[in-house]
Amino acid sequence: MFIAANWKMNLDKKSIKCFVKHLQNYKFSKNLQLCIFPPTIYIDFLSELTKNIPISIGGQNCHHQSFGAFTGEVSASSLKEFGCDFVIIGHSERRIYNKETNENIKKCAQFGIKSNLKPIICVGENLEQRENGNALDFIEKQITDCLPEEFNELMIAYEPIWSIGTGKIPHQSEIKEMHKNIKEIVFSKSKKNVKVLYGGSVNEQNIQEILSVNNVDGVLVGGASLKIKDLLAICGSAVKHLKNL
Ligand code: PGA
Repeated sequence: MFIAANWKMNLDKKSIKCFVKHLQNYKFSKNLQLCIFPPTIYIDFLSELTKNIPISIGGQNCHHQSFGAFTGEVSASSLKEFGCDFVIIGHSERRIYNKETNENIKKCAQFGIKSNLKPIICVGENLEQRENGNALDFIEKQITDCLPEEFNELMIAYEPIWSIGTGKIPHQSEIKEMHKNIKEIVFSKSKKNVKVLYGGSVNEQNIQEILSVNNVDGVLVGGASLKIKDLLAICGSAVKHLKNL
């Protein structure tokens, strides 16, 4: 079970220190993998503080070149050098605010893989596409266009845009249909099985409901990962869910 905590552009040194203090006392189940995605500037700080804690750290994005004149960007190799194992690619906020295209996203994922990072490629439809019945086709195109040529370990995060930060989540049947579809599309193109995470308004109250859906291999949590109490409650519920299987 994979739990990705996407802090986005939040928290500071003081709050991260306090967060880690609580993590230190938490008994991690070996069936649960927690990965925190802090703002890039805090990766090294968090990585130093969590040296003896069994969590992973990841980048929220990486550029599609190894180095060069790209002001403000971060390369996959520097993420790796500072202790990252994972990288989120193509989050809808980057697609919207940074105009990232499927073509860029594919290149970013390939550079991530080249630097030994495991990419988590985000896909997700907007409300209009969902309401018009176009969600499955839209996601199929996103995956087809973004899937790296070669990969070993890769995850896809299904994050409906209308669910991010809104408190609304899709019906269980919609998550089930989409996750199954995503796995089939990736398998048909690569002959590989991938893990599919669900993201969008995941919290302590709805995590059990989400994890009980077939083919949900974990979650990508934004808002509810910013408070240690909420994040640990989510981890606790995930472990409880695994025990009941
Ligand atoms: P949210 O964000 O949990 O706050 O909805 C999820 C995400 O954007 O990854």
